[in-house]
Amino acid sequence: MKVAVLGFGTVGVGVYGMLAEAAGLEPGPVLVRPGKENEPFKVSSIEAIVNDPAVGAVAEVIGGVEPAYTYACAALRAGKHFVTSNKALVAAKGVALNKLAREQGVAFLFSAACGGGVPFLHNLALARESDEILSLGGILNGTTNYMLDAMQRLGLDYADVLADAQRLGYAEADPTADVSGLDALRKIMLACAVAYDRLPVEGLLNEGIESITAADVAHFQSRGYTCRLVVSGGKNADGGVSAYVEPVLLRVGAPECSVLENYNMARYEGKCSGSIVLMGQGAGRWPTASAVLRDLSGILRGERYMFSEACAEGAADNSGSVHGYYVRLPAALAGEFEAESVETDGEIARLVTAPLSVQAMHETVKKLRAEGASVFFAAIRQ
Ligand SMILES: NC(=O)c1ccc[n+]([C@@H]2O[C@H](COP(=O)([O-])OP(=O)(O)OC[C@H]3O[C@@H](n4cnc5c(N)ncnc54)[C@H](OP(=O)(O)O)[C@@H]3O)[C@@H](O)[C@H]2O)c1
Repeated sequence: MKVAVLGFGTVGVGVYGMLAEAAGLEPGPVLVRPGKENEPFKVSSIEAIVNDPAVGAVAEVIGGVEPAYTYACAALRAGKHFVTSNKALVAAKGVALNKLAREQGVAFLFSAACGGGVPFLHNLALARESDEILSLGGILNGTTNYMLDAMQRLGLDYADVLADAQRLGYAEADPTADVSGLDALRKIMLACAVAYDRLPVEGLLNEGIESITAADVAHFQSRGYTCRLVVSGGKNADGGVSAYVEPVLLRVGAPECSVLENYNMARYEGKCSGSIVLMGQGAGRWPTASAVLRDLSGILRGERYMFSEACAEGAADNSGSVHGYYVRLPAALAGEFEAESVETDGEIARLVTAPLSVQAMHETVKKLRAEGASVFFAAIRQ
């Protein structure tokens, strides 16, 4: 099967290189921007690809919602299988693309969009066929994991580890999507859609790591905790789904604590299988390209969809998920929370809250920040 590649950046170069070696697949034309067609296989018009009868599949590795969505629709309408590594595209337009691909009888697969080289969605899609998925979670953003790990192991402050992550190519010049938790949130959206037929697009909560300080890390390290940015999702008792991202304090020895540097760890809990954990490189040219190739090879074996026919957009409900939290905030605001313990250090208070819902925690902190307070919080898992 001849595969056209849209985009020739970090992942695109990897996909094109792997296609030359893969059994049953061959590299086709590569879409680049006008003026960049400096090699015979590069073209700058999507029509040249979708109108080429020799092209059987299109792999989109441009990123962003547009023009990726327009190109995806054009490829599917032309009867080409469509594979993407683009989580922003699938989070925004996945349900529409799933419908269009099914109408056209061609594949829509996106393993690389969640977990890079870690075959999370692929395994989840298989597992939900035979088991009930009770919960989902893990560490799905390598940039923030690198930063939290470096803060803890090297005692560095936030600005220093962010600069290091940018120098090493783990963080982009604009790191907002990573450090705010948005990148990880998009991944748990996709995992919920695969596991529960519901792509949550409202009611989502994401707290990132922008407000963590070296003093916070030293504080919970001295008490035997490690901090990680963790995604969580699950099926609620009423059939709805929860989906949120927040920093979590884990007891040393928890599986997440062994995830170092920019690695990812994805986890699901099956009713019968119990807890399944997958760990590996969540990003990078070759790990990500390998996931794109896994989908393309899967098409040759008859794989077609990761979302079921019933998959629809919906809202997340995080009011039933309850934790105790570590909170650092101005001492004058300590009374905002029902606390199990409070330590005051000058104008700063560090407290452990009584259990409260994820929804209530995120909303309270949002309100305090809107009033100008500097606050960091992390859920506590024993
Ligand atoms: N990098 C990773 O480790 C990784 C891991 C998992 C998933 N992903 C996802 O994979 C996708 C690609 O990521 P990447 O890291 O490869 O990005 P990248 O290095 O920025 O590559 C994107 C490429 O697409 C090209 N492009 C942008 N708009 C285009 C257009 N309209 N027509 C033709 N080409 C266009 C860009 O060209 P210009 O340079 O000319 O703008 C660039 O060469 C993203 O959705 C990302 O989230 C990446």
